[in-house]
Amino acid sequence: GCVPSNIIVTGGCGFIGSNFVHYVAENHPETHVTVLDALTYAGNVDNIAGLPDNQVEFIQGDIRDGELLDRIVPGHDAIVHYAAESHNDNSIADPEPFVRTNVEGTFRLLEAARKYDVRYHHISTDEVYGDLALDDPRKFTERSPYRPSSPYSSTKASSDLLVRAWHRTFGVRTTISNCSNNYGPYQHVEKFIPRQITNILDGARPKLYGNGRDVRDWIHAEDHSSAVWTILTKGRIGETYLIGANGERDNITVLRDILRVMGKDADDFDRVGDRPGHDRRYAIDSTKLRTELGWRPEHTDFEAGIRQTVAWYIENESWWRPAKASTEARYREQGR
Ligand code: NAD
Ligand code: DAU
Repeated sequence: GCVPSNIIVTGGCGFIGSNFVHYVAENHPETHVTVLDALTYAGNVDNIAGLPDNQVEFIQGDIRDGELLDRIVPGHDAIVHYAAESHNDNSIADPEPFVRTNVEGTFRLLEAARKYDVRYHHISTDEVYGDLALDDPRKFTERSPYRPSSPYSSTKASSDLLVRAWHRTFGVRTTISNCSNNYGPYQHVEKFIPRQITNILDGARPKLYGNGRDVRDWIHAEDHSSAVWTILTKGRIGETYLIGANGERDNITVLRDILRVMGKDADDFDRVGDRPGHDRRYAIDSTKLRTELGWRPEHTDFEAGIRQTVAWYIENESWWRPAKASTEARYREQGR
């Protein structure tokens, strides 16, 4: 493998993208990072505050802006593409921004990678594979068929297919990673874990969709970042790698962990209506990444991770407070 000296990280002011920028700044000081982010409702430039100016540069802009890409892509040796509309519930309420950013935005970046012969790593999700039955012994692998359920996951699936075509037809040096559900600091309060923590801090009751038996395969965002760095520097061109840390848990178990850590009763929550088209279960088999590239997760104690995450939201109210009321107002409109 080879260590890139100058990379573009799209969506580097979002939850997982900013975690990756911190990861590179701390572990690979020889790699310069240009963050390209439009600062939508989900982006916050404070997420990358305090990093060395000579290593991390911020450019506010839209990944669909071809002229901007013509100005900034030359001179970089890789694009790591995190920018997306990322929340399933928002995609059900208003799918259009998902098509624009996830599909058209990926197309523009691939065209720039082709034009300037830049290595391209694509961040995607396990949701492209649809869902598994609760009692299915199988997990998703790199060979699972694409079967997305929501407007969000269908636009992510579309973007993955564009990447595969740009590799095969135009020879763009691509890799794709499909990761399971992330948790950790800087996650937007619209997502399950931060929504429940901040509800409890606000004296409001957590909201559980449906029967709460739906299973997600949780991974700490820092483990996602180390996996992406491994694939960027050592992955085989044209390949897809699944990222996961054997973290399967149903939603009610996760919620009860949060309630216990925060000193609340196990039944201190409300059941609300289910998400339309709700995926039952995700589960990742990451054997390929572990055996081929030698990657291992470090945050394997989920309860400890939840305790740290709760502590982070307690200490960083000024970070999440501005987004809380509008997020809950959106949920009220959806009856959830
Ligand atoms: P996020 O919503 O927290 O952040 C998205 C970032 O992209 C924001 O900073 C936003 O300003 C930026 N952005 C949005 N549209 C843009 C545009 N048109 N141009 C430039 N910037 C734009 O998302 P996240 O949860 O950090 O997810 C990041 C990536 O990881 C996404 O591609 C998502 O599909 C993928 N992913 C997420 C998870 C998860 O559990 N959250 C799991 C697997 C994969
Ligand atoms: O699997 C990876 C995906 O994980 C990523 O591609 C997405 O970007 C990311 O948002 C996440 O998608 P989910 O839909 O799984 O995450 P979310 O946090 O929205 O919900 C997790 C589970 O919790 C899901 O089964 C729905 C449920 N839920 C969610 C919210 C917001 C609740 O029960 N109550 C809630 O209030």
